[in-house]
Amino acid sequence: MSAVTASAPGKIILFGEHAVVYGEPALAVPVFKVQATATVHKGMPGEGLIIDAVDLNLRLSLAQAATEALVLTARLVLDHLGVPEPDAHMTVRSTIPMASGLGSGAAISAALGRALASYLGHPLEPAELSSLVYEVEKLHHGTPSGIDNTVVCYGQPVYFTRGNAPQTFQVSAPLHLLIADTGIASPTRASVNAVREAWEQDRQTYAAIFRQIGEITRQARSAIESGHLAELGPLMTRNQHYLAQLDVSSPELDALIRAAILAGAEGAKLSGGGRGGNMIAMVVPDRVGQVESALRQAGAVRTIYTVVS
Ligand code: MEV
Repeated sequence: MSAVTASAPGKIILFGEHAVVYGEPALAVPVFKVQATATVHKGMPGEGLIIDAVDLNLRLSLAQAATEALVLTARLVLDHLGVPEPDAHMTVRSTIPMASGLGSGAAISAALGRALASYLGHPLEPAELSSLVYEVEKLHHGTPSGIDNTVVCYGQPVYFTRGNAPQTFQVSAPLHLLIADTGIASPTRASVNAVREAWEQDRQTYAAIFRQIGEITRQARSAIESGHLAELGPLMTRNQHYLAQLDVSSPELDALIRAAILAGAEGAKLSGGGRGGNMIAMVVPDRVGQVESALRQAGAVRTIYTVVS
């Protein structure tokens, strides 16, 4: 069998994180500037499947515990296809920063699953791949909504409501976004668990916040579809206000959000689990440079400029 390479993009949530875990909609888009890539080639007879996670300097075999996300992904793919373990070598790489809200875990599993299935002669449809990656996401997140696996496996803008088939949405006019990283690793599981504990203490207050975020997300979808982009920045900033009420922002995220807005962004919010990781700002094209340098000055360790069209 000849070598096979497959990839999956990072993702960014535009609106609706956390509330999406409780049944409200969220909007997310792939970020193709960062990618996870997996390559499979033939191994030695009797060797089984070897996975080299290059960035982690980790070599794994299928005999290892399924709590290892890459091992679990490979096992799920083999079980799903009903095929025995091949003698093959996989190399997995990623340029997606980890634990920062860009979907690195989901993208790495998606790239691995996609490459392995194609190598075995059974390419997976996005929906099949997404449901396998969802099982792996449970390791990372505990109670994932399913949005991360959906966006990275479909590789297109997604309007997502838990338990429903994902819908894509039309982007009528290009969205210019700056993504900035606080440099603080923040596993999604921790912030999702913290919100769950707080919700369990005071369901009424938290349910009301989730509903407000859901309403903002629905308004954002219609603004994006109708090309009324002027509405989007303020909606982003309002979404951030409710995320802060959920206590998933942080002083570093707040500093980047403030800096972006002072430098002329239309709106800004954290993106993903929060408490660190990345924020996003909506920017008109001729202000990208000034907002980007303000973000750097306010402590961003990395910025990514992406246009969703
Ligand atoms: C993580 O990218 C988004 C969260 O809403 C968790 C989830 O949806 O599973 C925080």
